[in-house]
Amino acid sequence: MTTILDGKKLRDKIFENLKSKLDKMPVKPTLAVILAGDDPSSRIYVNNKKKCAEKLGINSIVIEYPSDVTEQELIEKIQELNADEKITAILVQLPLPEHINKSNVINTILPQKDVDGLTTANSGKLFAGEKPYVYPCTPKGILLLLDEYNIELDGKHAVVIGRSNLVGKPVAQMLLNRNATVTMCHSHTKNLADIIKTADIVVSAVGKNVVGEKNIIKNNCVIVDVGIFRDESGKVRGDVEKVSPAYLSPVPGGVGPMTIASLMLNTVELFLFDKTL
Ligand code: GUN
Repeated sequence: MTTILDGKKLRDKIFENLKSKLDKMPVKPTLAVILAGDDPSSRIYVNNKKKCAEKLGINSIVIEYPSDVTEQELIEKIQELNADEKITAILVQLPLPEHINKSNVINTILPQKDVDGLTTANSGKLFAGEKPYVYPCTPKGILLLLDEYNIELDGKHAVVIGRSNLVGKPVAQMLLNRNATVTMCHSHTKNLADIIKTADIVVSAVGKNVVGEKNIIKNNCVIVDVGIFRDESGKVRGDVEKVSPAYLSPVPGGVGPMTIASLMLNTVELFLFDKTL
């Protein structure tokens, strides 16, 4: 029997909590989102973020640019947002158009307004075992979900598939910081199936079906499916199909809702940061 790690349920619980906290705040946080280009999925994600923020009582603005925006224009906008006291959190929606150097843009965000925890200042702290202002949203959501279901991490073998800066690398580091034994797998990994066989926890963030009926998994295996993609027929699919682990974070309804819950948590945490010192 597989227990579903229900991201929607936990998201709703987090939102309820956040809403009552925000209702008591005389001044609210303001999240600024930069959306550059015309990626249709990005537009949907950004609209969702804005709607969620508004529902909770977080102010939000979306600043849109066409796909031929220059790196300098984005950098100057971020500098303006950094200097604006009313703006308490900044997010640059990824991916950016190809001609733009993502690191230059992201690293312009002040670390104390970096709601994604993606600047080198914040990720450097994470990798040094220090506390960043906030943790990246998807990895944070994954750990909140595992904790909600009391899944033990200490001493467990966690296999992370995918090495992106957004998910794979930070989630591996966060699992390591919680004393898991972490194996990182990626497109050049040989014998992925042999490694999966030994996993207590699998986190798959690839965007194609990499775990399926051909895989042998441990009896008490926990699988977190982060990948989401549409196949040729337009159907939404995850990285994991036709396996029956002890616990499964499914697509949809697992990590997706937790990512947005974490974004809202991070927005409030950044706003309260100085005030709670
Ligand atoms: N694109 C897909 N997921 C994310 C995310 O968590 N943050 C940002 N900034 N862009 C994304």
